[in-house]
Amino acid sequence: MSKKIRTAVVGLNMGLQHAYAFHESEQADLRWVVDLDEARAKSVAEELGCSYTSDWTAILDEVDAVSLCTPHHLHAPQALQAIAAGKHVLVEKPLANTEEDCLRVIRAAEEKKVTLMMAYVLRYIPAIVRLKEVLNSGRYGRPINASCWVEGFLPPNPDSWFARKEKLGGGVLFSHGCHYVDLLLWFFGKPELVASLGTRLGTEWMEGEGTAHATIAFSSGTLGHVSCSWGIKHSGAPARFHIQTTEGLLALPADYRKIEWVTDKGTETIYEEAPASIERKSGSVKYEVEHFLSCIAGGREPETNGRDALRSHRTIWAMYASRGEKVPEAAR
Ligand SMILES: NC(=O)c1ccc[n+]([C@@H]2O[C@H](COP(=O)([O-])OP(=O)(O)OC[C@H]3O[C@@H](n4cnc5c(N)ncnc54)[C@H](O)[C@@H]3O)[C@@H](O)[C@H]2O)c1
Repeated sequence: MSKKIRTAVVGLNMGLQHAYAFHESEQADLRWVVDLDEARAKSVAEELGCSYTSDWTAILDEVDAVSLCTPHHLHAPQALQAIAAGKHVLVEKPLANTEEDCLRVIRAAEEKKVTLMMAYVLRYIPAIVRLKEVLNSGRYGRPINASCWVEGFLPPNPDSWFARKEKLGGGVLFSHGCHYVDLLLWFFGKPELVASLGTRLGTEWMEGEGTAHATIAFSSGTLGHVSCSWGIKHSGAPARFHIQTTEGLLALPADYRKIEWVTDKGTETIYEEAPASIERKSGSVKYEVEHFLSCIAGGREPETNGRDALRSHRTIWAMYASRGEKVPEAAR
C-alpha cells in the first residue's frame, strides 16, 4: 500500500469539514489542525487524534499537503508560502481576491510542480456530476435557460472580515455565488456576455453587495442566471437549479440528492442518491478531498484547478464591471 499523504488543515470553521474528510480518508494521515483560536484547534485535535497549533507556518515541514480554509484575503499569501515550501494545496474558494494574485499562485504551483486545487465542493457531489453527464448526453434537449437560486440569511456581523469588501473580495456574488458561476461555466461552456446588479438593502452591515442577480449569455445561446443573497429570511425558491431545455425541465432540489425531468408527460426522477450507509461528518467535502488526495497520489491535474477557478473569477469580475443601463426619465 502506498504511503499516506500527511495533511494539515488551517482555519477550523469551514475547515472542520476538511479535517473530518482527511481523518476519514484511507489516503490521508491528518497530522495537524490549525486555528488562531488555540482552544478551538485543541478541541478539534482531541476529537480527531492529531496535533494542533495556532502557527501553521511552524508545521509545514511535517506535512505533504495543506487545506487553506481561512478568510479570502489570506488565501494568496498563505498559498504562496505553502507552495514555496513544496506543499500541495487545497484552497477554499475563491482562489484570491485579484487576478494578479490568482496568477501568482497558479504560476508558483506550476513552477514547483505541486497540486493546486480549488475547493469547489459542489463539483464533486454525485447529483451535480450526474447533471453534467445528463446535459452532455444531449438526450434531454438543448438548454435554453438555467436559473439558480442561492438565498439565505447571514446574521449581521459588522466586525467580521465578511463585512469588509477588501477582505471578502467583493460581495455575496464573489464569495458565495462563485460556486454557481463556476457550475454554469462547467455546464454550458464559453461565456460571451455577462451582466449583474447588486444591492446592500437588508445587508447594510456588509460593504459589498449582499444580494445579487447575475446573468451569462453563453456562445451556445443558453442563458444562465444566478440569484444569490445573504439577506433573505424566507427564500421559497423552487429548487437550486432549473434548467429548461427545448424538450422539458431538469430540476435539481436544494439538497442536491436528485434530478427530476419534467415534461408534458409528467415528472420522472432520473437520478436519486442512495441513502448513505454510514453518516460521515465530512458531508459532501469528502468527495473533493478524495479527489485532491488522488490527484496528489497520481500526479494528476485536479478537475477544479487554479486556471479553471481564474476563468470563473474573471467572469465574476466582468459581471461587477458591467453597469446597468440607466432607465430614461420618461419611463420612470
Ligand atoms: N464551500 C462552502 O460551502 C463554504 C462555506 C463556508 C465557507 N467557505 C470558505 O471557507 C473559508 C473560510 O470561511 P469560514 O466561513 O470558515 O470563515 P470563518 O471566519 O468563520 O473561519 C475562519 C477560521 O480561520 C481562522 N484563521 C484565520 N486566520 C488564520 C491563520 N492565519 N491561521 C490559522 N487560522 C486562521 C479563524 O480563527 C477562524 O476560525 C473561506 O474561503 C470561505 O469562502 C466555503
